[in-house]
Amino acid sequence: MRREDRDLGGMKTSNRICDLLGIEVPIIQAGMVWCSGWELASAVSAAGGLGILGAGSMYPEVLRDQIQKLQAAAPGKPFAVNVPLLYPAVEEHMKSIVELGVPIVFTSAGNPKTWTAHLHEHGIKVVHVVSSVKFALKAQAAGVDAVVAEGFEAGGHNGREETTTMCLVPAVSDACDVPVIAAGGLHDGRSIVAAMVLGADGVQLGSRFVATPESSAHVAFKDAVVAAGEGFTSLELKSVTPVRLLHNDFARQVIEAQQRGATPDELRTLLGRGRAKQGMFEGDLNEGELEIGQIASMIDGLEPAGDLLRRLAQECRDLAGPRLGGKFEF
Ligand SMILES: Cc1cc2nc3c(=O)[nH]c(=O)nc-3n(C[C@H](O)[C@H](O)[C@H](O)COP(=O)(O)O)c2cc1C
Repeated sequence: MRREDRDLGGMKTSNRICDLLGIEVPIIQAGMVWCSGWELASAVSAAGGLGILGAGSMYPEVLRDQIQKLQAAAPGKPFAVNVPLLYPAVEEHMKSIVELGVPIVFTSAGNPKTWTAHLHEHGIKVVHVVSSVKFALKAQAAGVDAVVAEGFEAGGHNGREETTTMCLVPAVSDACDVPVIAAGGLHDGRSIVAAMVLGADGVQLGSRFVATPESSAHVAFKDAVVAAGEGFTSLELKSVTPVRLLHNDFARQVIEAQQRGATPDELRTLLGRGRAKQGMFEGDLNEGELEIGQIASMIDGLEPAGDLLRRLAQECRDLAGPRLGGKFEF
């Protein structure tokens, strides 16, 4: 049944994120360095959600190849590319995105003003990731089509303010007119419905999608995510670039260095180069950098991405239904 054909007793029958992005279910698989390639993104997009390629760990030629593979695997389905704006080859990435007809870009870690108008000129929708109301308003003023409000619980790089998803989502929803996508700490129907009750129009999940067979993460990292318990992650490297780390030998070295007052330069030296690849892609669980969210403690196994998306959507429908208005009519 088409969304607009449903009888909701006169209630609003559309979801702003589904309408904006052309998807059936307002659940987005986050762009994640080393973890979200075409296999994962195409499985999510084919199942009716939005799959995102994590371009932050890709050379320009790798991104081109990944876009083409995704387009072949999920023909005609919407998908996005995440471009962290601090990435050195951002211009080459944007060129490929325009040339290959990518419909949606999620920008993060930088100024949304720089690329939004250019992408719009080429008919590309732009969503920007923020960790505060201040940055959400800046992104809206820059003309983005939607914002991702990403709370402190989230895996990957994060805001210094440490604002939780519970506090951030209602604040950003109240402050902004553009649709809001909640991220950070979401893993099942309960948490998705909760985020949408707080004001979000859609959700973005990262950590939960790492634990899928299609994720490009190393299997040892996936197993470590499934094995992680309460308190196994913390936000570190706040004087350099705040990032939530799964505790291992490397994370413990970072924590010790911070406790003895290491300078940002010392921490940068300790981090070195290539640690994220070493950990998440090559599976070095001791010395690699392992980025994952607090919600890893609730992930108890690998699940194929399409099945996961369909299960999450069904859990939302079962929990919410038409009582909460058209947001859940997907
Ligand atoms: C392994 C990993 C890598 C990530 N890499 C990126 C990235 O390259 N760009 C980005 O904007 N966010 C990145 N993130 C954050 C996600 O896009 C997403 O917002 C976050 O994972 C949501 O929180 P959750 O992990 O609790 O679901 C990453 C997250 C993880 C877990």
